[in-house]
Amino acid sequence: MSKKKLMFTGSDTEGGITSGYQMNDGVKLKVPYSFFGSIYDKDEERAVLAAMKQESQTMGPQVALFQKEFAREFDVKHALATSNCTTGMHAATQALGIKAGDEVIVTPITFIATSLVILKEGAKPVYADIDPRTFNIDPREIEKKITKKTKAIYVVHYGGQMCDMDPIMRIAKKHKLYVLEDCAHAHGALYKGRKAGSIGDVGVFSFHSLKNMVTLGEGGMITTNDDKLIDKLQRMRVMSITHWDPKQAKFVFAGIKLEKKSEKDYWIPSHFDVIDDDGKWGNNYRMCEAQAAVGRAQLMKLKMLVDKRRENGHRLNNGIKGIKGITPTYEDPNCYHAFHLYTLCVEPEVLGASRDEFLRVLYQEEGIQGILHYQPTYHFTGLKKKYRYPEKLCPNAEKFFYARELNLPMNPRLTKDDVDMMIEGVRNAAKKVRR
Ligand SMILES: Cc1ncc(COP(=O)(O)O)c(C=O)c1O
Repeated sequence: MSKKKLMFTGSDTEGGITSGYQMNDGVKLKVPYSFFGSIYDKDEERAVLAAMKQESQTMGPQVALFQKEFAREFDVKHALATSNCTTGMHAATQALGIKAGDEVIVTPITFIATSLVILKEGAKPVYADIDPRTFNIDPREIEKKITKKTKAIYVVHYGGQMCDMDPIMRIAKKHKLYVLEDCAHAHGALYKGRKAGSIGDVGVFSFHSLKNMVTLGEGGMITTNDDKLIDKLQRMRVMSITHWDPKQAKFVFAGIKLEKKSEKDYWIPSHFDVIDDDGKWGNNYRMCEAQAAVGRAQLMKLKMLVDKRRENGHRLNNGIKGIKGITPTYEDPNCYHAFHLYTLCVEPEVLGASRDEFLRVLYQEEGIQGILHYQPTYHFTGLKKKYRYPEKLCPNAEKFFYARELNLPMNPRLTKDDVDMMIEGVRNAAKKVRR
């Protein structure tokens, strides 16, 4: 075997951009963009070890408790743990009955997952433009995109700041549309005092490595207050499985005659039934016990984790404000920002340099690793090929976001010194690109 030390970067691991931002390019970094968004300590270690000793390794007592505790924490009636946010949103898309020929209005400023689950069901993502300050979907733009085919609105609380949910829910009610909240960034975020995932018909969270709380790298949670939806969500999450109804036995288990008293016997639950939901078939989107055990420990410290992000976010905002050509994160007074991302914008006309020039100097000369989250989803080749979206479909998303934004490192482990180095780096980089 070669003695050469194996060094993996984000671009050569199998997950690519979804598993790391390390580069082997010799740049000495003062503040790298960490790919771990949380803090683990003895609580998580104990939780994993205890779960490993359990008889049940998946969908057992830890998952049941995690769901219960999550529902209580997020002010919802039901929470269902899933393997990740994408699978949770897919199960929800199926449970909402979204199908080929339908349209779903969605933000273009998000990770591909939000549109992917719509595409998977054969429906068309219809992009509504964003608010240029919050980068969230603009309710007025949603209304312009409604047609007879529209079935739902999928919103994303970008960076940890919630969308303007009151007008969105009014529009949904008026046109009888479902609302799905993609809460991948929004653990701990509030809108007028209400929690992310508790306002729409369904919310879906991510516990991926980068997120505000993490369950060993992957994980998700569906939330809903809708009693009618919960059984469908269950079936889409776990293989269309439903309870076996003994009265149906003669149809389901033709030829097997069960005695009445045997209904209570322990082997009876192993008779389950499988049904489709209007032609939709379920999946294996289960969460394992070790992930749920870690999730429970993370939930206990969620307030501390979000407080630390907010502290860092506010320190960055104060330090960056006043640097000519650089716009710090805008905070909507209706919202409690969870600072999943710290987004700043470069104003090329004022700075005299593009965002990419600024980002290059910030990285190479100042050692601060900024990243881009996200390009508009309708830019992707596969989507353009299928739906022929025009090049600049959403002008605000293009002009105010895609051409200007970048994200600075943000996680709850950053120290005041790290944050101060970032502020210094931004100030120096702005000065250098101006020269
Ligand atoms: C806005 C948004 N939605 C969905 C996802 C998908 O989450 P997961 O990786 O848990 O499937 C992400 C993850 O990065 C995200 O940022």
